[in-house]
Amino acid sequence: MADPSVAGVTQQRTPDTSPVTVVGLGPMGAALAEALLANGNPTTVWNRTAGKADRLVARGARRAASAAEAVAASPVTIVCVADYPAMHAVLEPASGALAGRTVVNLSSGTPEQARDAVAWAEQRGARYLDGVIMVPPEAIGRPDTVLFYSGQSACYDAHRATLDVLGGAAQYLGDDPGLAVLYNTALLGLMYATINGFLHAAALVGSAGVASAALARIAGDWFVPSVVLPLCAGVTGQIDSGDFPGDAGDLRAHLTVIDHIVRTSRDQGMATDVPGALRDLVERAIAEGYGDKGYASLVELIRTPAG
Ligand SMILES: NC(=O)c1ccc[n+]([C@@H]2O[C@H](COP(=O)([O-])OP(=O)(O)OC[C@H]3O[C@@H](n4cnc5c(N)ncnc54)[C@H](OP(=O)(O)O)[C@@H]3O)[C@@H](O)[C@H]2O)c1
Repeated sequence: MADPSVAGVTQQRTPDTSPVTVVGLGPMGAALAEALLANGNPTTVWNRTAGKADRLVARGARRAASAAEAVAASPVTIVCVADYPAMHAVLEPASGALAGRTVVNLSSGTPEQARDAVAWAEQRGARYLDGVIMVPPEAIGRPDTVLFYSGQSACYDAHRATLDVLGGAAQYLGDDPGLAVLYNTALLGLMYATINGFLHAAALVGSAGVASAALARIAGDWFVPSVVLPLCAGVTGQIDSGDFPGDAGDLRAHLTVIDHIVRTSRDQGMATDVPGALRDLVERAIAEGYGDKGYASLVELIRTPAG
């Protein structure tokens, strides 16, 4: 299975002063342009609402009169607009200027939209690299900021020094252009599930008058790093191999623990939606024959829609 920690990770910042174009000057696009200007890259900017370029022009950016002029001004154009339809709306009228240029799209979307964008760019003679930003605008330009990229490695390598200006800890995830967006979606799902777990845990201890900050300290100092993260790392081999030994605790044993969480929530006068959803999944797995398998076997149900 592909592992970006092996496939290639950018860790060093290389000096770069290549000309760059930034299209899309919302909060994020403006931060990208500012980082490039601060690094000394000759930076051309364009935005549908032209006035958003004023502050950047005052700091040395060159204002393009059209998206086509912006694309023609630099070998690489970084696009950071609301979504992929907005990217197409901006770049379609600039199609004539795209031949021989590289588009790096940092707008949010889906893996399918990213893959379609490659074909769209190739039809216009352009190279295309997809990327994702998971940090706020103020983190742009820092050496420890992570941005994800995926698509043609030659395209990434050719512009790596410029891209490192935006985030010095960028990660190239692989040839599939949909990968950057897929990682983004996967990590956001992890974030929401983790926050939901924390909210439920905070409500549980809160039902006995305990402040959530006390729980956050125990979770952060000990439980998550010493118990949860090793558990996740420990099951990666099982997830990838499809072999889920239940000798260290099978799903039936886990159901007993999860039942206690549901019952305690109810006894403390709380809603049971969060652990209830988990219990439903474990019960379905047992009904489908996974009762003597390890906990990670739930991934088999998660992989396929319920029939
Ligand atoms: N802000 C953040 O904290 C953050 C963090 C991570 C990722 N991102 C991603 O970065 C991208 C840009 O975000 P943002 O915060 O800068 O603002 P945004 O509100 O998501 O996007 C604003 C930009 O998109 C342009 N735009 C929208 N629809 C358009 C259309 N149909 N045609 C032409 N231009 C269009 C806007 O042009 P006008 O100015 O003319 O309206 C503006 O340049 C998004 O995909 C977002 O998800 C943002």
